[in-house]
Amino acid sequence: MKKITVSAPGKLMLFGEHAVVYNRPCLVTAVNQRLNLEAEIIKNQILLLEAPDVQIQEYQKELKDLGKGDIPKAARFVEMAVKNFLTEYQLPAGLKIKTRAEFSAQFGFGSSSASTVCVLKGLSEIAKIKLTNKEIFDLSYKTVLDIQGKGSGFDVAAAIYGGTIYFWTGGKIIEPINIDSIPLVVGYSGIKADTVTLINQVKEKADKNPELVEGIYNRIEEIVNQAKEKILKKEWDKVGDLMNKNHHLLKQLGVSIDKLDKMCQAALDAGAYGAKLSGAGGGDCMIALVSEEKREQVARAIEKAGGIMIEVKVNAEGVRIEV
Ligand code: PMV
Repeated sequence: MKKITVSAPGKLMLFGEHAVVYNRPCLVTAVNQRLNLEAEIIKNQILLLEAPDVQIQEYQKELKDLGKGDIPKAARFVEMAVKNFLTEYQLPAGLKIKTRAEFSAQFGFGSSSASTVCVLKGLSEIAKIKLTNKEIFDLSYKTVLDIQGKGSGFDVAAAIYGGTIYFWTGGKIIEPINIDSIPLVVGYSGIKADTVTLINQVKEKADKNPELVEGIYNRIEEIVNQAKEKILKKEWDKVGDLMNKNHHLLKQLGVSIDKLDKMCQAALDAGAYGAKLSGAGGGDCMIALVSEEKREQVARAIEKAGGIMIEVKVNAEGVRIEV
């Protein structure tokens, strides 16, 4: 096989962000906006990369130099994923890779981890190596850690397995939650957040006040475990309450911002069951849980608070071969 197209979903954190970095669980769902990747074997021993969505055009590097020198931020995940693949397995020659996202890299939907997963899935197919989902997870997670140094891997798990997952740091537990959907409204704050900066910010707080932060993580863990049960029972009013509590704890961690708080409050005032920021905080998206009757009202209220609605379906399929 010379050429392959692979796609993987973006993700939304439902419950448990930040605490999940410190050996706690979280709940994440895959969204139906996907990252598409085309990989093709070429003659020269180089990696050619086209990722126009993130302004990477005609990027090229000798295979033997992968991972070395200055790598543009937007090319890092693909380059390191190829490098990590080649450390363990072989390819017949060089590679041309093209990526295209159905969502903006600004949303925090996890385009970097989705492209990492697509590279490893695509290359294993081209090289005819049967990798299990867990093996793809481990190699993808290693790639993310090589680049960021930090992170739980929840986004990688969502890209691989899809659906809605109860996830434990580093993939210690990856448990699918058997539901068809969750009635969410998603609002983008218009502000790009940097996950690593926020993780570092929380770490600083934890270094100064370990008991306070550990206490917050423990309460988040309880919320995640309760939310898992309530989601399975579709007790949306209870799930909404837990979202509000989780948001409040994230505020105490110092990762929310005015804009996200306003969008969440607007959603609640318009009748949402609950609302919270989703992901690292500092910007990106918030989510609100709604009844079908209130959906429109809540969406308009979030827009009035300055948010941009993103139409997504949750519980989407994980990584798959397209052609
Ligand atoms: O910024 P996002 O959407 O990738 O979410 C980050 C969530 C954290 O818990 C802060 C980090 C992680 O890797 O779990």
